[in-house]
Amino acid sequence: MIIIDGPARLSGEIPVQGAKNSTLPLLAAALLCKGQTVLYNCPDLSDVDTAVKILEHLGCSCSRTDDRLIIDSAPTRCDVPPDLMREMRSSIVFLGAILSRCGEAKMCFPGGCELGPRPIDLHLSALAKLGAEIREEGGCLVARAPGGIHGAYISLSFPSVGATENVMLAACCSEGTTVIANAAREPEIADLARYLNRCGGRIYGAGESCIIIDGVQELYGAEHRVMPDRIAAVTYMAAAAVTGGSITLTGVDNAHIMPMLSPFEESGCVVRPLGGALNLMAPQRLRAVKHIRTMPYPGFPTDAQPVVMSMAAVGEGTSIFVENIFENRYKHAAELARMGASIKLEGKVAVVEGVEALHGAPVTAWDLRGGAALVVAGLAAQGRTEITGTWHIRRGYENITGRLADLGARIREG
Ligand code: EPZ
Repeated sequence: MIIIDGPARLSGEIPVQGAKNSTLPLLAAALLCKGQTVLYNCPDLSDVDTAVKILEHLGCSCSRTDDRLIIDSAPTRCDVPPDLMREMRSSIVFLGAILSRCGEAKMCFPGGCELGPRPIDLHLSALAKLGAEIREEGGCLVARAPGGIHGAYISLSFPSVGATENVMLAACCSEGTTVIANAAREPEIADLARYLNRCGGRIYGAGESCIIIDGVQELYGAEHRVMPDRIAAVTYMAAAAVTGGSITLTGVDNAHIMPMLSPFEESGCVVRPLGGALNLMAPQRLRAVKHIRTMPYPGFPTDAQPVVMSMAAVGEGTSIFVENIFENRYKHAAELARMGASIKLEGKVAVVEGVEALHGAPVTAWDLRGGAALVVAGLAAQGRTEITGTWHIRRGYENITGRLADLGARIREG
């Protein structure tokens, strides 16, 4: 449980963790490489622990000192245990990596946050184009590439982050050239390509919608610094905003934060990028965030929608959200309503009428970012908020209670 006694104005400096959504595919990529990979700025998260357990199960050795994770990759098996697959959805990126390194792979369907139906059809059809034969056997995926992985032209019907990563992982060591059209453009894709290219890969255009991969024979481990977590950054910005606070985030990449700035500007915050840092000063009372439509990058990210909804809940006026990526990503709205928020849902649309103040209440985190939204709301609310289901939050936020307490929040784990 996380217990927050609000409200308390946040102020001070906060370092931003390495990106969860970059670290997980990077760990799958380390499997492709002969020898040692060293990841710096590696966040201490339960999802990262799960990915490390998958690597260890496959026969790799992993050791961590502070934010440095060393992976020695020499896989001895090609299956992922069902309990680790069910723990997080991104475990599916191991499919492309294992298939490429071992020629076969076995795993059950992935779990993770319940954000509505999260099919993997794009992953499977793309891998099939690269030469994989994939069948379902007793609830498990069994994949083989009898003729090896070969280059192909792949046009994704939606720029899926995970499918783009899976193709990059499978095709990096292959015969021939692969082209991914309508690829996801998220910064985490570019980070993955930077690492793979350091290891000897030849990937061009990552971060744009057409990625070209010239297959190579072998990859060798390399050192890499994980990019900063843009969603953790926006979460702390929202936390400062709802408390009328003033904070400086350090270790951020401001270019990645730009697509998320509009709600902060609309609501009256002053945001100043300062090289690798960012300063946010919030007004005493926020205004509405107006209109948020979630879109693939460089649009407004779905992962930032819940924390910005907590800002809208206390912002003066009406805000409208349209969630275009996941069908079931408004579970936090009912919990925010327990704290006094006024939110009406209609399919993919949420209409939020900002209230003067929220009040503390017992609430439940049903998913990772929804849980973060409850933490943000609890910081602004009058009285005590008790959040259960916090294991979701630990999947993606490193020491969130300690970091917020350092900024002046009265927050603790109970
Ligand atoms: C990644 O998930 C992130 N996870 C998610 O972050 C993020 O919300 C999402 O991208 C969108 O930005 C990681 O990077 C580990 P997608 P992913 O494939 O790869 C549909 C968080 O809170 N789709 O781009 O699973 C899918 O159903 C997490 O940190 C298919 O239809 O996202 C969804 O509607 C949650 N078929 C949309 O595409 C497929 O085969 C976007 O999914 C694949 C996806």
